[in-house]
Amino acid sequence: MENQVIKMQAITKVYHTDDIETHALSGIDLEINKGEFVSIAGPSGCGKSTLLSIMGLLDDANSGTYQLNGRDVSSLAVAEQTRIRNREVGFIFQSFNLISDMSVAENVELPLIYAGIGKKQRRERVAEVLERVQMSHRMKHLPNQLSGGQQQRVAIARALAGKPAILLADEPTGNLDSRNGEKAMDLLAELHELGATICMVTHDERYNSFASRVIHLFDGKVVDEHVASYEQELAMVGA
Ligand SMILES: Nc1ncnc2c1ncn2[C@@H]1O[C@H](COP(=O)(O)OP(=O)(O)OP(=O)(O)O)[C@@H](O)[C@H]1O
Ligand SMILES: [Mg+2]
Repeated sequence: MENQVIKMQAITKVYHTDDIETHALSGIDLEINKGEFVSIAGPSGCGKSTLLSIMGLLDDANSGTYQLNGRDVSSLAVAEQTRIRNREVGFIFQSFNLISDMSVAENVELPLIYAGIGKKQRRERVAEVLERVQMSHRMKHLPNQLSGGQQQRVAIARALAGKPAILLADEPTGNLDSRNGEKAMDLLAELHELGATICMVTHDERYNSFASRVIHLFDGKVVDEHVASYEQELAMVGA
């Protein structure tokens, strides 16, 4: 279906270390439609980051099928995976992952260089997304000259810059205090309102309410799925 950004069927992932087999994902079926904001919740070690890594083509599943933006990506060569990842996926990490000796503007520009976008268009995109996250005034700063909340806003701008099909965020508030955590979540919610498709991992229950759907993982399996704002919607219509 054209509307589906993510479609996973029977995805499994097993890690082998020494003599130990860890079943990180045990048969995940998951679909995310264009424009959805999905939160993946569950206790530590249940497979959330593993799932997001596979979604973002940072890691391969052991079995199952995966279609990203209408294309089967389950068994692509590494170079082709990298190309698709650069074009279709924007990542936001808990630890921001900005490059320390590059300025804010250079960090945001980097994925656009990888994507082969020309200089003029890159400049325009960088200015646009930094404006979007209200970081234009810090364009020339280095990451260590910014607060944690500001660094995460720059990381969000970087993820947005290439206009990806989906934004993947792994514990985006994990390194932020609650005020900055809320602000980062407000920004994601705003991007969602403007049409972005987002899949976020969190073990902080408070932030599930920002999503339009919550998927609960336990021991590498989907155990529950519900519309996050259902109760809020009921309250709004006075039911
Ligand atoms: N590289 C690896 N090698 C071996 N086992 C791994 C590896 N990465 C993850 N695992 C195991 O796979 C399981 C799922 O890990 P994952 O990182 O996906 O959990 P998570 O839900 O993101 O947890 P957290 O909330 O703590 O971030 C865990 O049991 C973990 O120990
Ligand atoms: Mg994790």
